[in-house]
Amino acid sequence: MMNEIPEKLITAIKKSRYVVAFTGAGISAEAGIPTYRGEGGLWDKYDPNLYANIDYFLQDPSYYWNFFREVRYPLLKNAGPSQGHLALAEMEAGGNLKTVITQNIDGLHQVAGSSSVVELHGTTRIIFCMNCSQEYTMDKAFSLLMEEFPPRCSKCRGRLRPAVIFFGESLDPHVLRSAYEEAGKCDMLLVVGSSLVVYPAAEIPLVARQKGATLVIINKEKTGLDHEADFIIQGKAGDVLPQIIQSLRE
Ligand code: APR
Repeated sequence: MMNEIPEKLITAIKKSRYVVAFTGAGISAEAGIPTYRGEGGLWDKYDPNLYANIDYFLQDPSYYWNFFREVRYPLLKNAGPSQGHLALAEMEAGGNLKTVITQNIDGLHQVAGSSSVVELHGTTRIIFCMNCSQEYTMDKAFSLLMEEFPPRCSKCRGRLRPAVIFFGESLDPHVLRSAYEEAGKCDMLLVVGSSLVVYPAAEIPLVARQKGATLVIINKEKTGLDHEADFIIQGKAGDVLPQIIQSLRE
């Protein structure tokens, strides 16, 4: 579907010296990964207090590991990058984008070829032992899960967990600092596919804005920060971003 891309936005992107993207679940929706909120959102079916909260995970990890077995792993194991992921990787390759700051834990920006990615909420592609820190791939964790539920470390029998930030956990300060640094350096922040309701992640666009960056929001629906945006393009990431790339080439 064709969206209206303002000529002024294309000019602004061409003039920008440091463009950063800030992405959410919406950019992975077209890769077959459901978003958390809005129509068909994961949190409508899976209560995040049970399935994505650190206190509950430590008390009873079976909710999370059922979610991993039934939803997370099956969706991710075959998922490829969306047109939106690929477009951001192309923008980086073409020198129009420096970094992607993502809230997503699916690793699809890296699969698409983005080389500078800040994963605010970690990654579900790494599973590690809470006792000896032995790391496992998602595939290996799934096979351990098939042998024993919940899965245990094959080295020390310790309990495993994903390298994600659960609700109730603080973000890694080093990762957060990198994100704040990028937001402070950029003169344009492209927000793609986020409802912008979860903090401290949603602070990042505000930091960029306060530093004078142009704020562009590309989203299927209204977001929590539309009132701060210089440009708002309501549409699918997989339609809008390739159109922006096309216009940059002209
Ligand atoms: N293209 C662009 N935007 C889309 C698309 C699409 N194809 N499909 C859905 N969207 C939009 C939705 O309208 C919604 O506003 O993407 C947004 C996704 O919002 P959320 O599901 O809230 O995801 P996100 O903003 O990434 O959530 C932030 O909340 O649950 C936590 O840790 C989790 O990282 C996540 C954080």
